[in-house]
Formats: sequence, structure tokens, C-alpha cells
Amino acid sequence: MNSSPVTGLNGKIRVPGDKSISHRSLILGTVANGQTRISGLLEADDVMATAGAMRALGATISRDGEAGTGDWLVDGVGNGALLEPAGPLDFGNAGTGSRLTMGLVAGYDFPVTFTGDASLSGRPMGRVLNPLRETGLQVDSTTTDQGPDRMPLTVHGAPLPVAITYRVPVASAQVKSAVLLAGLNIAGTTTVIEPVMTRDHTEKMLAGFGAHIEINTDDDGTRHISLEGQGDLQAQDVTVPGDPSSSSFPIVAALITPQSDVTVHDVLLNPTRTGLFDTLVEMGADLTISNRRQSGGEDIGDIRVRTSQLKGVTVPADRAPSMIDEYPILSVAAAFAQGETHMLGLHELRVKECDRLAVTATALKANGVECTEGEDSLTVRGGRVPGGAEIATWLDHRIAMSFLVMGLAAEKPVSVDDTVMINTSFREFVPLMNSLGAQIS
Ligand code: S3P
Repeated sequence: MNSSPVTGLNGKIRVPGDKSISHRSLILGTVANGQTRISGLLEADDVMATAGAMRALGATISRDGEAGTGDWLVDGVGNGALLEPAGPLDFGNAGTGSRLTMGLVAGYDFPVTFTGDASLSGRPMGRVLNPLRETGLQVDSTTTDQGPDRMPLTVHGAPLPVAITYRVPVASAQVKSAVLLAGLNIAGTTTVIEPVMTRDHTEKMLAGFGAHIEINTDDDGTRHISLEGQGDLQAQDVTVPGDPSSSSFPIVAALITPQSDVTVHDVLLNPTRTGLFDTLVEMGADLTISNRRQSGGEDIGDIRVRTSQLKGVTVPADRAPSMIDEYPILSVAAAFAQGETHMLGLHELRVKECDRLAVTATALKANGVECTEGEDSLTVRGGRVPGGAEIATWLDHRIAMSFLVMGLAAEKPVSVDDTVMINTSFREFVPLMNSLGAQIS
């Protein structure tokens, strides 16, 4: 597939539901009593893999209307009442779904096997399995050249699992969430200590479903999140806002393409997710947020962007957790900016769907953009973007979408070797972009 240079992306759009909240609404609906109604669920492959896993663990999950509306019903089994799945849970490409589910089942005395595609099987699972082992979880995992604790793997919770207190050593919402979800079926108080705040959807939604959860924050910002195990959860109505990570593709496309004016409605604006928008504003983007409001306990709003001459900035390391999935598309924006953009604190990019730091740097260089890849940093020297290359996407949806956006404003078209993975998070990406005036085919 390739994208060609265009002028004038224009229109008002919505992007599909937030992936993080979609996974969590299915998972919490599964362990709640009663029927959870979800509207705006992201109907993409990653979330559907989680739905399949929750069905295998006992939930009844069905659409409530036409495909594409995002209206779904989850009949939960209740907390502590998951069933032993009949076969392996296949998570495809879904890191979040698999890691959160490892936590969810860690307090159950039965075996659960996790499998995934080549990308997911290469990703480290020790970061969630290690704290879960402290509860008594037994793990039988695969060691590859990439390291230990890879999928396929089987976990088996202890007959009497132990509630733990765990200080998260990497800034990871998945690790925090796995430990908290494990605590749901463990007697006593499970505590996660989080020195660097990451997306807080799990703790917010647990509170919304009626869990006994308490959060205390130290003067230095360290958060202590404590959950009382074995309480009841009650089914909820969940409205999933538009995914800010998906919105970043049309937003950057409009900024770098001449004569563009695009509005994305109903975007999630939780401050743990908006680092890219802050950075783009610092870079000189004509980006305005209007109609800020609350929906389902989250901040949302409409984002309008118009073509802008961007300038290079330094993106500090402490901003990384709030924009961790947005560095590939920020790198594309940086390629069109005047001057250098320094992105710091990027070590976590190496363990995403691919090594996003290395793959982004290679793809930038292939398209004639000068950049320097450090151990955990990237410097992009912006200005001219010749384009013209075909880039390798390594089973990574965000790499594919980012470089298709680059081709809309480069001197020559940009091709990507594979676009199937876009379906893991943003099935509508190509038609939606083309409806704004893009040429992606
Ligand atoms: C996610 C957390 C982040 C992010 C991922 C979604 C979540 O991963 O990259 O796309 O929903 O909890 P880490 O926890 O590994 O930072």
C-alpha cells in the first residue's frame, strides 16, 4: 500500500473507541455481576481477541446492534467465578489484552495457556509474570533468543494466593493493571506503588465498577493504589471515548499537509494520554481543543488542527508515559519541522509491537530524513522529506499508519510492506483518511 502527496485534508471526523478502555470494559464486565452495556467499543482485532478470551473464561459477550456501532453487552460471571478455559487463549497481536488477562487469572487455581502471533511471542512477559509469581503463580513459559518468559506460556494460580505490595520498576500501565486485576480474587489488600504515573484507566474503572480501591499520592508524586480483594463488582454502562492514539494520525496528517483543516470529535483527553498534543502545540501546531466535557468519568473534547509550519523541540523523558504510543507519528511530524527534535526516555519503545525506536529510525532514513538513534533517544533533523521508500512495518500497526501519513506530505510517495496489522487498532484508517482527501491505496 502507498500514500501520495496531497493538498488540502479537510473535514470533521470521529475516530474509533479507545483501545485501552475497550479492553478494560470487557475484562471488568466479565468479573462483574449482571449485564455491562458498552457503547463505542473499539471493534478491532486486539479488542476482539480479548473478547474471545473473556468468553473462554465464562462471560457471554454479544453485539447489541449493527456491526460498527460499538454497542456491546457483557454478561459477567461475577468476581471470583471465572471458569477454566477449554483451550489456549490466542491473543494475536494484543499485548495489553494478554498482559491484563494474565493478571486477571492469577488468583485462580487452574491452568490458562496464552498464545499470540510472532510479534507478541517476541515480547517480554516477565514484567507481569514476576510480580504475579509473588502471589504464588506457577509459570511454564518459553525462552527464546530474545529472552525468558515469552509466549506460548501457561500460568496456574495458587490454591491460596497471597496479596502483594509491588513497586512498579518500569513506567507501565499494563504491569500496574495486571497486579491490580490479580488482586480482585486474592483475599486481603493488594497494593501497587507507582513512582511515575501511567494511564489510570484501570483504577478509575475498578472504582466505577464498585471495587474498594484507594489511591494516595506522596509529595513526590508516587502513587499508592490499594485494592481490597474478593469484593463484588457491579455491571456498569460504559461509554468509550475516541482513541487519542488513533486521532494522532489524522491530526499530524493535517498539520503537515498544505491547506488542511481537520476536526476530530469526542477524543479522550485524560491527561495521562495527551503528551503528543502538548508537544505538537510546543512545536507551533495550530491545534485547538474545544467543547471540553466529561463522558463516563473521562475528559473528552474536539480537536481542530490546521496546516502549520512546525519547529523542532526537546521532548523530555518524563513526558514519555503520556505519549508512549505516539513516538512513531511524532517522528513523522518532526521530519517536517524546521530544526532538530530530540526525544528522550524512549527505552520502552524497544519492547512494543516491534523495536519502535530502531524501526522508526530505519524508516526515516530510508525516506531521506536525517536522524540519530541513541540507546533510549531519537533526534530527527527536520526540513526536507524526500520520501520514495518502501518501509518494513514488522507487524506494527502504528509504524504502518505513521509512514502512510508521511507519504501524504513527502516529495515522493511512501509505501509500506504490510497493512493488515492496521486492523489491530484502527480498521477504518484508510477509508477515513481518504474521506478527508488523502490518497492511500
Ligand atoms: C497500555 C499501556 C501501554 C501502551 C499500550 C496500552 C494499556 O503499554 O503502550 O498500547 O492499555 O495499559 P505499557 O504498559 O507497556 O507502557
